[in-house]
Amino acid sequence: MKILAIESSCDETAAAVIEDGRQILSNVVVSQIDIFAEYGGVIPEVAARSHLEAILPVIHKALGDAGSDKTEIDAIAVTHTPGLMGSLMIGTLTARMLAILWQKPLYAVHHLKSHIYANWLDAGDDVAMLDSDLPKFPLLALVISGGHTQIIYMPSHNQFEIIGTTKDDAVGECFDKVAKILGLPYPGGPAIADCAKNGNPTRYHLPHPRVDGLDFSFSGLKTAVLRAVQAECGLSITTPSYELKEHLSEQQKADFAASFQQTACEILLEKMEKALEQYPKVKSVVFAGGVSANRQLRSLALNSLKGHQEATDESKDVKTGMFAKSSKNARSGALNAEYDYFKRDDIDIFFPEARFTGDNAAMVGVAAYFEIQSGVKPTDPYRLSIAPRTKISEK
Ligand code: KG4
Ligand code: ZN
Repeated sequence: MKILAIESSCDETAAAVIEDGRQILSNVVVSQIDIFAEYGGVIPEVAARSHLEAILPVIHKALGDAGSDKTEIDAIAVTHTPGLMGSLMIGTLTARMLAILWQKPLYAVHHLKSHIYANWLDAGDDVAMLDSDLPKFPLLALVISGGHTQIIYMPSHNQFEIIGTTKDDAVGECFDKVAKILGLPYPGGPAIADCAKNGNPTRYHLPHPRVDGLDFSFSGLKTAVLRAVQAECGLSITTPSYELKEHLSEQQKADFAASFQQTACEILLEKMEKALEQYPKVKSVVFAGGVSANRQLRSLALNSLKGHQEATDESKDVKTGMFAKSSKNARSGALNAEYDYFKRDDIDIFFPEARFTGDNAAMVGVAAYFEIQSGVKPTDPYRLSIAPRTKISEK
């Protein structure tokens, strides 16, 4: 079965052809990052226009790269929620039109489902990825993107229960805002990660928010960075954030980036640890979304989720501590994906390969495939609507 998948929820125009669920025949992503780096953030109207220019060439290239024409496509999948209205509209209208013209079933996919299912994509390494290498249920997903920070419990395929969410900013948004304070370019996540390489993560103490249960809050952390920068530069708290970068040395910027990154990662992993205590039967943890590309998060996850086994395993002789990175798994051979899979006796931890953490259409195709497997029916191409906000558990 070949699925043509289309993604345009924010500032990436993407199309992919996925075969038999997880195999990537093509994956084309045109990013608007260069345009928005100039503005320091996404401008919805500009994003929509760029999608309009790019969408048909991107689909054409995805079909060409896959060596497929429309006759070989069995279904079309598209992101229809959540995202920017104008951006979503371009992808969905194109998908609806193709579904009608080519008479193919159309599947409307939730963007966060796609991010989660990026963990099922076959990276196409030399070693074949076995079904036994895939995440197992029940599982916990940590979705960390520019718009969302959620812990999701999945008892089985295509079933989602949100058990924790942010009360204010998303963690990716917080990376982007802190980057602005430090005078680093958009998008802030990769810029902070890069700048932090030369910094000391313990140089500045930043508070962990006290939020009940499995929920998160990130707006306080952003303000804490702002106040710490003002204090470090001897400036008043009324100094506007856009003036601060001029007062910071390169070393101070690196130390702030490293200290912030460390704190943000610790906050995420502390909550995952708590979630694992509350859901002791989970077999896998999957990370998803743009922030899951973060190397520091991946290496900290090696250590910090270890408490779970101590908390749930009766036998004291089982080794706790570091996860052993599996040498058998195909994913461990992936080129640019250090720590993308590691295993402990009772639980497997997955990160998508780095190139699938940001927005792409391959993940939309794999999510649609598992929807189809779960018995989801195609949507009416004449009626498919879009929504800026919908919960993953609503559909
Ligand atoms: O999932 P995504 O590509 O788009 C949304 O659905 O929002 O996530 C984008 C977010 C941005 O906030 C970006 O700064 C962040 O992911 N991000 C990172 C890294 N790469 C991207 N955050 C931290 N570390 C990274 N390496
Ligand atoms: Zn996304």
